[in-house]
Amino acid sequence: MSNVVLQVLERDLPDLPAQMSEVIAELKDPNLIDLPVLITKISQCGNLSEIVLRMVNSGYLRHGRKADDLEEAVILVGMEAVRHTILGVVLYSMFSKRQVLENFNRMNFLRHCLGTALAARMLSTEAGLDEQLDSYKLITYGLLHDIGIVALDRAMPITLNRILKMAAEENMPILEAEVRVLGKLTHSMIGEWVCGKWNLPQDIRNVVQYHHAPRKAKLNRPEVALMHIADVISFNYYESLTESVHKYALDMELLRSLGLNMGQIAQVEEALPERVERAMRALDFDALESLSLCC
Ligand SMILES: [Fe+2]
Ligand SMILES: [Fe+2]
Repeated sequence: MSNVVLQVLERDLPDLPAQMSEVIAELKDPNLIDLPVLITKISQCGNLSEIVLRMVNSGYLRHGRKADDLEEAVILVGMEAVRHTILGVVLYSMFSKRQVLENFNRMNFLRHCLGTALAARMLSTEAGLDEQLDSYKLITYGLLHDIGIVALDRAMPITLNRILKMAAEENMPILEAEVRVLGKLTHSMIGEWVCGKWNLPQDIRNVVQYHHAPRKAKLNRPEVALMHIADVISFNYYESLTESVHKYALDMELLRSLGLNMGQIAQVEEALPERVERAMRALDFDALESLSLCC
């Protein structure tokens, strides 16, 4: 069945709008970004620049004073932070806006993604990796790590509903329900395929592909390990709010490889729900809803 699934996705998952593809192409390699060219391309993307500035200046991520334009944002928070904010904003716009599926709560899914991002930030601090890992980058990884589920929601909602129903009713991991329904495909594989279709940067593709199998990652292993642990923490919390009781186990060896212990995990678990709700209020998702890429 897997080929059929990919054929349906190829047919029904929209291509990125041309202007958006151009912006992503410009952001692909962080070392090759030409700021004036990027600013010109963003100015051709409707109100993208305004939305990115609102996100950079949002109460949650802002460092000190507000940026009035993208050039100033780069000076204030750095190119990597602006790059990831733009990627997060443009790709978030591809999330489906409707809420019709019985077994898929879009707002809780967003909380799970944000929870993964915020847990990763807290774990990064605990592991002493803050110098190495930009917080904005972790937000974008968190928002996009389950892009395979976003794609299924967008192009194959009934199939996604069947997967989630099976996982809840039979108390099985979602990955297992996916393999049963999709015929050997999982949302990580679908996500990796989507990253290829949309020509996303390699670091995002890597996190998407390996967030459930971090030991197989060949690139950016600490990031992937961090996102995996953060995903388990966030998933288990948001799963505990639903009927389904299946929880993922933490990989203790991976935890130790990052220099983390269970006391630190417990702290992150305790702080997470409050932080997610605070971020939901501060990150201005209403602004994201008003993104218009038309000229
Ligand atoms: Fe996932
Ligand atoms: Fe996830």
